[in-house]
Amino acid sequence: MFVFKAAVVGAGTMGGEIAQVVASAGIPVVLKDVKQEFVDTGLEKARQVTEAQLGSLVKKEKITQENADAQREEILGRITGTTAYDGFGDVDFVIEAVPERMEIKQAVFGELDEATPGHAILASNTSSLSITEMAEATLRPDKVCGFHFFYPASMMRLIEVIEGDDTSDETLAVASNFAQALRKTAVRCGEVPGFVVNRILTSAMSEVWRVTEDEELDIKDVDKAIQESGTVPMGPYYLTDLLGLDTVLHVAEHLHDSYGERFHVSKPMQELVEAGNLGQKTGKGFYEHG
Ligand SMILES: NC(=O)c1ccc[n+]([C@@H]2O[C@H](COP(=O)([O-])OP(=O)(O)OC[C@H]3O[C@@H](n4cnc5c(N)ncnc54)[C@H](O)[C@@H]3O)[C@@H](O)[C@H]2O)c1
Repeated sequence: MFVFKAAVVGAGTMGGEIAQVVASAGIPVVLKDVKQEFVDTGLEKARQVTEAQLGSLVKKEKITQENADAQREEILGRITGTTAYDGFGDVDFVIEAVPERMEIKQAVFGELDEATPGHAILASNTSSLSITEMAEATLRPDKVCGFHFFYPASMMRLIEVIEGDDTSDETLAVASNFAQALRKTAVRCGEVPGFVVNRILTSAMSEVWRVTEDEELDIKDVDKAIQESGTVPMGPYYLTDLLGLDTVLHVAEHLHDSYGERFHVSKPMQELVEAGNLGQKTGKGFYEHG
């Protein structure tokens, strides 16, 4: 099956940029959120990423400014924002990118089952949750899979394609081909908590969180030392602010529940989330954001 039209549900940290990736590959995409202001934020993100990408091509003299202006309008013209399920009646592939809570995901999958044609594949951008449980909210569990992008979606090349208990081989093949059409590399994963990348990343972050708390280290000093080691572009606390503290915390809690003490849940992060400080998206996390 070829994907002629796609949809993204949730226009937050990931959703707006995922819609931009789909539109850049020449495929029309509907972007849904619960409020118009959230849809607008997602559309604005898509605009910024498109302008940055085309601007860099102009700078390198690969395309002219006129060409860039025309391409920008074409790409952004393929994204339609909505707060309802208008435009979902003829989609072939949906990427769900709502908050990392099973009850929210299951409610969305139930709605998607009603709003989309029977052949459409319903995929989740979940970082760690069970695809099988999400599929239980639908009458098409064979057409449900994971389709996990990494932050920032427009730059990171990998997509984890995750197989639930009932996912069919055909669904996995369509998802892997779709990832390629988006110019990404698909890696097929079994349904284990954290899949491949978050199991490795969160394990490393866990050690940093644990030692920072045990030794009462300053978060900024830790970030500076790790960044200056030259192995990663930024320290783990600053990265957590960009990813969203609520998302990182839910993944850490889920991995702790699944694998035990070797995954540490950061207390300062829990306190910040409880206070509603979720990182860059709310203006404050471990750092203040302008
Ligand atoms: N942040 C990351 O770095 C990252 C990376 C990879 C995967 N993910 C995963 O992507 C998903 C989304 O994460 P995020 O960081 O973009 O979250 P986010 O909180 O930034 O955005 C979620 C968006 O979903 C919207 N939403 C909530 N309920 C909805 C509904 N019923 N219908 C439509 N929209 C709804 C919210 O209004 C919000 O705009 C999560 O499963 C997360 O684990 C996140």
